[in-house]
Amino acid sequence: MEKLEQLYEGKAKKVFATEDPALLIVQYKDDATAFNGKKKGSIAGKGIVNNRMSNRLMAHLEKAGVPTHFVRELSERETLVKKVRIVPLEVVVRNVSAGSFARRYGVEEGLPFGEPTVEFSYKNDALDDPLIALPHVFALGLATREEMETILRYAKQINGFLRELWASCGVTLVDFKVEFGRLADGTIILADEISPDTCRLWDSATGKKLDKDRFRRDLGGVEEAYAEIMARLEAADA
Ligand code: TMP
Ligand code: ASP
Repeated sequence: MEKLEQLYEGKAKKVFATEDPALLIVQYKDDATAFNGKKKGSIAGKGIVNNRMSNRLMAHLEKAGVPTHFVRELSERETLVKKVRIVPLEVVVRNVSAGSFARRYGVEEGLPFGEPTVEFSYKNDALDDPLIALPHVFALGLATREEMETILRYAKQINGFLRELWASCGVTLVDFKVEFGRLADGTIILADEISPDTCRLWDSATGKKLDKDRFRRDLGGVEEAYAEIMARLEAADA
């Protein structure tokens, strides 16, 4: 499958048309941003890790019963995916306090939750992706009740599956963000990516951060962390 015209360039990926109107090619970049693009940089090799990791995880999720946009890996940075209309929500699942949760509620990072939480942010750069309550999702017409039930069910299923998989790699899945899209017939499927850019992944024994927080917080060893987390996944999930 060949890349035709570029349709979109985001912060971490480019999207191209293909000869099949139902399929797109995504190309992963090494560009990294944080804080809604206010911090900019590059992480050498990140695009390769994110492409391979996301594809591997989505292939597993598909088998576990979560439909995804993943079709086929084309090269180390390029993947063929199903075209969707993105539901403009960031769906965040948390198992342990960290990041904006710890900040918002004034608690330390690393407090495990008795039950995972699911929250939504409205994808809108001009507004800085504000947290959004379910009634407001409906008021704005961003998704239907039925779609949100499906999204909530998939989000919990994804968390259950990924938590186990990462545990087998000696890694704690602290939290993650996923996005969903609609196929032409309205079917909701998992889209975007699941990678160290979109998850918090801590070494279970030492608590060492093996994700994009190393870039966000200038912790150093960013490239090494991306390489290490990918190697851990490949070793445990051969
Ligand atoms: P948060 O604690 O900053 O709200 O982030 C929760 C999770 O979502 C964390 O794993 C990082 C991920 N995330 C993204 O993938 N994209 C984003 O724009 C933000 C803010 C968070
Ligand atoms: N990718 C997001 C941005 O550039 C935020 C993040 O991952 O922290 O704003």
